[in-house]
Amino acid sequence: MTMTMTMLCHSFKLTQLTRQRTATLPLTRLSSSLSEIREIHEKALSLAPPATSSASSEWSLNIAHLLTHHLNLPPNTYSSIFNKNYPPNLNLSSPPTFFSDVTRLTNSEPIQYILGSWDFYTLSNVLCSAPVLIPRPETEDLITILLTSIPPSPAAKKLNIIDVGTGTGCIGISILKELPNVNLYGVEPGVEAYNLTNLNINKFEKEFKHNSDYVKLYGCGIEDLEEIECDYIISNPPYIPTRDMEGLDDKVIRYEDYKALWGGEDGLDVIREVLRYAEKVGGKVFGEGDEGCVEGVRRFVGERGEVEGRKDFMGKERFFIVSWL
Ligand SMILES: C[S@@+](CC[C@H](N)C(=O)[O-])C[C@H]1O[C@@H](n2cnc3c(N)ncnc32)[C@H](O)[C@@H]1O
Repeated sequence: MTMTMTMLCHSFKLTQLTRQRTATLPLTRLSSSLSEIREIHEKALSLAPPATSSASSEWSLNIAHLLTHHLNLPPNTYSSIFNKNYPPNLNLSSPPTFFSDVTRLTNSEPIQYILGSWDFYTLSNVLCSAPVLIPRPETEDLITILLTSIPPSPAAKKLNIIDVGTGTGCIGISILKELPNVNLYGVEPGVEAYNLTNLNINKFEKEFKHNSDYVKLYGCGIEDLEEIECDYIISNPPYIPTRDMEGLDDKVIRYEDYKALWGGEDGLDVIREVLRYAEKVGGKVFGEGDEGCVEGVRRFVGERGEVEGRKDFMGKERFFIVSWL
């Protein structure tokens, strides 16, 4: 397989995903009896920060995710842990490490960064590390919109698709896995995100290589990207308008990259950059933005193209498809 991964604008080193583990509890030996696990679980639930009730389902779910992870159970068994239906033969190898991760949760650190991975679309355990944006479930809708909107392409024709702002690489890698005959171009100016995209491409290569062996990653912003003849551009760019930045959740503000979130005064700065590029190279755009962004996209595109808005699973119109006339 000839995987082409090229950096054009600047060069970065691959970073190691590191996980900090700090706090300790007196429980130091291997805990394997059901009553010990039950006790540890109850103790962890009781450590919910004051503003969060230990009965809050988010806290309980996160503790279930953590415990599942530390018991080395498959991630999809967390609901049985959540409901305290413990499977047999449990083995918690390091309670102090588990409780140090609980401490990270109490500090509002997102569970995805603590676990180091999260599921997205049909990808299991996409590597996640701060400050790279954690893949969101709404973005899965954007992929479905693209996959269900584009006509089948003749077997001999390769589709050129650009993913703008790759982050973890979750969008581009999902497309490579789902769609045959794709040349994927990724664009990402953030060093940590660029490196994480690379790690995830390597991790998932075996899941998409039957479809494609062509991935090219650019370490720059879309405004500096060379002209690539492309069929489609997909992007979940930074799109939060200034007025909404202050209202963001504590865990988002403290852990996720500001540059992955803020989209300028009206939230459309990078969206406009993507549209300018797409108009120049003629690619159809599938994009995600803030609620209300579709009107802004329509104003920007004017008579030069057609804009279709789509709703997310919460009923908010946040996706746009732009075809040039
Ligand atoms: C909202 S995150 C999306 C990450 C990923 N695609 C996802 O859906 O989880 C936006 C990403 O765009 C990148 N970005 C910011 N400005 C950009 C620009 N001018 N051109 C391309 N990417 C940009 C950020 O570094 C960030 O990784």
